[in-house]
Amino acid sequence: MRIVLGVGGGIAAYKSASLLRLLTEAGHNVSVIPTESSKRFVGVATWEALSGNTVSSSVFDEVEKVNHVRLGHEADLIVVAPATADLLARAAGGQADDLLTNTLLMARGPVLFAPAMHTEMWSHPATRANVATLRGRGAIVMDPAVGRLTGKDSGAGRLPDPEDIFAAAMAAAGLPVPTPGDTEPASQPSGSAQPSGTAQPSGTAQPSGSLAGKTVTVTAGGTREPLDPVRFLGNRSSGKQGVALARAAAEAGAQVRLIAAHMDVPAPEGVELIRVETALELRNAVHEAAPGSDVLIMAAAVADFRPDRNSDTKIKKRDDGEDPVITLVRNPDILAEAVQQRNAARASAGAALPSVIVGFAAETGDGTAEVLDYGRQKLARKGCELLVLNRVGVSLVFGQDVTEVTLLSPADSDASPAPTYAGTKSEIAGRIIARVSQELAAALPVR
Ligand code: CTP
Repeated sequence: MRIVLGVGGGIAAYKSASLLRLLTEAGHNVSVIPTESSKRFVGVATWEALSGNTVSSSVFDEVEKVNHVRLGHEADLIVVAPATADLLARAAGGQADDLLTNTLLMARGPVLFAPAMHTEMWSHPATRANVATLRGRGAIVMDPAVGRLTGKDSGAGRLPDPEDIFAAAMAAAGLPVPTPGDTEPASQPSGSAQPSGTAQPSGTAQPSGSLAGKTVTVTAGGTREPLDPVRFLGNRSSGKQGVALARAAAEAGAQVRLIAAHMDVPAPEGVELIRVETALELRNAVHEAAPGSDVLIMAAAVADFRPDRNSDTKIKKRDDGEDPVITLVRNPDILAEAVQQRNAARASAGAALPSVIVGFAAETGDGTAEVLDYGRQKLARKGCELLVLNRVGVSLVFGQDVTEVTLLSPADSDASPAPTYAGTKSEIAGRIIARVSQELAAALPVR
């Protein structure tokens, strides 16, 4: 695979040398594009020696090769690490004032940003807006790691570990992550899809429980689709069921990642929290997380449609009596996409994660088909291993603590019908996690 590695001007630039090593050792052809300021931290000679390719920062070097067009067009993947606040701003603004930003504008494949900056810069509204813009356009922007920063301060802003950036890069390109010691080129995956992130840190107690050593990603809450800076289209999801599932998975020993859209309840302790707002942001986060997760649970209420435009300014009442018309466009079906991507990776590599994908169905039934029939149709359409079927009405289920669900599986038969459970959302979550553990144990082992 051809990869462009963009290096921004931050002290963490030196860590990208390890990332470059991981990429080249996995068999990829990497062209490094450092920004001018990054060369104060790491010199061109380092990038040329490690990548085996010539390195340039300017559109005016090697003009005859038209590098700013060629590199962006040819790249199967662009990784920017470290992505400084300035680089994120320039990318979000569509600027093209050096070779890297030109290349980003020419990109045809996935783009992954691994930010590094001080906590204040990361949480500044300007940076938040730039990150949201980039994510909204389909780029993957990792959350920075938390820890010691350049000075004596610490907080969110550290460059994620090179191994984590590498895993995210492979996931962005739809490739499995080679296990340590697996030296086969990534262009011919050996079939191992076990992510580096699922390993338990050495020297710490191994968690016990039915999901010990497993990584579980849960989506929760309701997405919000912006109409203008103050308005959005949303739904009634409280996030309670997703939070209960994340908690139950963590209690079963799993390493849990919670991708949270709007929720009325706080996230549980001890889980990795990724906040999203829109369906497209949720989709990016799921794409990033799924190939490294043993289990994906799609409990979020994802908006099926979004307004075709998000006005930069507040939509005003008009004197001429013309009222605005909102046109909706369809959001991607994230659950169905995750199943398709996993199945495609399985077909080419022999094995792929997530081993178990769980969908939810909120059905009212309408007389033409009973709730159960709708559930079965949805299970077949989405292709997941389990479908949690809820009957909803305005006052039923959403926001309530007690609920009733049927767990549908393609293996259901007259002899072994789908079970129905009633109880609080945490009791239901316990039932679902117990069933997921059984499914995982029965799933084909990941080679
Ligand atoms: N879902 C998704 N992406 C969407 C919509 C839904 O991943 N754009 C997921 C939800 O997280 C849930 C499941 O799909 O796990 C079922 O969602 P639901 O809205 O009930 O199903 P739809 O496919 O939208 O079907 P319907 O038209 O009947 O609402």
